[in-house]
Amino acid sequence: MAITAAEIPNPPFFQVVGDRRAIRYFDPDRKVEDWKIQAILQSARYASCQGNINATEAIVVQKETCEVWDELEECVSGFNIQLANQCSHIVIWLTNLHAWYGRANDGLSTLALSGALTKYHGWNYEFSMTQTIPRLMSFPLERTDLLLRFETGLAVSQALLASTALGLGNCLVAFGRKPGGVEKTFGLPPNMKFTWAHAIGYPLEDPKSGGQRVRLKYDRLFNKDVYGTPLEADPAVDSALREVGLLQEQAPLPGRFEEIDALAERFGRDPGVVSWPEKELKRLINDDDWDFGPRIKARAEELIASGELPDYPEEMRETFQRIMEEHGLDTRKFLGE
Ligand SMILES: Cc1cc2nc3c(=O)[nH]c(=O)nc-3n(C[C@H](O)[C@H](O)[C@H](O)COP(=O)(O)O)c2cc1C
Repeated sequence: MAITAAEIPNPPFFQVVGDRRAIRYFDPDRKVEDWKIQAILQSARYASCQGNINATEAIVVQKETCEVWDELEECVSGFNIQLANQCSHIVIWLTNLHAWYGRANDGLSTLALSGALTKYHGWNYEFSMTQTIPRLMSFPLERTDLLLRFETGLAVSQALLASTALGLGNCLVAFGRKPGGVEKTFGLPPNMKFTWAHAIGYPLEDPKSGGQRVRLKYDRLFNKDVYGTPLEADPAVDSALREVGLLQEQAPLPGRFEEIDALAERFGRDPGVVSWPEKELKRLINDDDWDFGPRIKARAEELIASGELPDYPEEMRETFQRIMEEHGLDTRKFLGE
């Protein structure tokens, strides 16, 4: 039976943005309803796209029905294999580069027909046809690729939020084990680029995943008027955003590590999380760029006190140093003097 509007969860927007997490434990026995997948894809379809060219496409895969599953599974990065096998659906997000070269004209025409492309903003048919569109269409593939992958990212972001609103868990999963493998598995033509895979399912972990994951501080990311002048966050605004659910309690919430271990035991996997060496943890937790709250600091201290941390792989120091220097980074911050 078709779903009715009253049955579609419709939580407040900022709550959904705050609730979104990368979910990595899925219930292998629960399938996501078709209507939810449709709602997720519809949300992606209505993401903004340049000139209305509709460059984002997808293949929705279910392990049970997909004939090329085994081949596809071989492409999943090692740390995503459990995720891929236990989720309900995987959406293979694709970027169609032909959209840029083939649909620029028609896309803009649809905007004009819709009353979106107007003379007010200087649009003019002759100029568009002799200057703007030919110029855009003569972009090299690499430039088009960059522009359209960005667009696919927007569509995927809307899909992630829609799925979160529907009470589902989501994780973007790399399929990096076999470069070009996904394209080959599906026999995609060269214009059809595999951009990312997206696992969807009912979360087996708490949907809050032990709290919101720490980010860099607001004023380290956002600038005012010029680059390098921090844009300050108003604490009163943050406080209101906390009330509407956008800003939430930071991970790790109490019970998170017990939860992970219980899940590991249930599926016969190794318990525990990965840790970094003591010196690295101390350096990180004192790094003022990060928005560390008391819980994550306490966790770092607890780990340091446990003394069960690995050693830094000295043989790798030179590699890290070389790569950072190649990119003009001050290695002293990350590697010491
Ligand atoms: C483009 C992209 C690719 C990602 N790939 C993976 C992945 O392959 N495996 C994984 O476990 N998480 C992956 N993630 C999830 C991030 O690691 C996650 O967003 C991060 O841990 C921050 O946590 P949060 O999303 O819960 O805030 C990916 C996220 C993005 C945006």
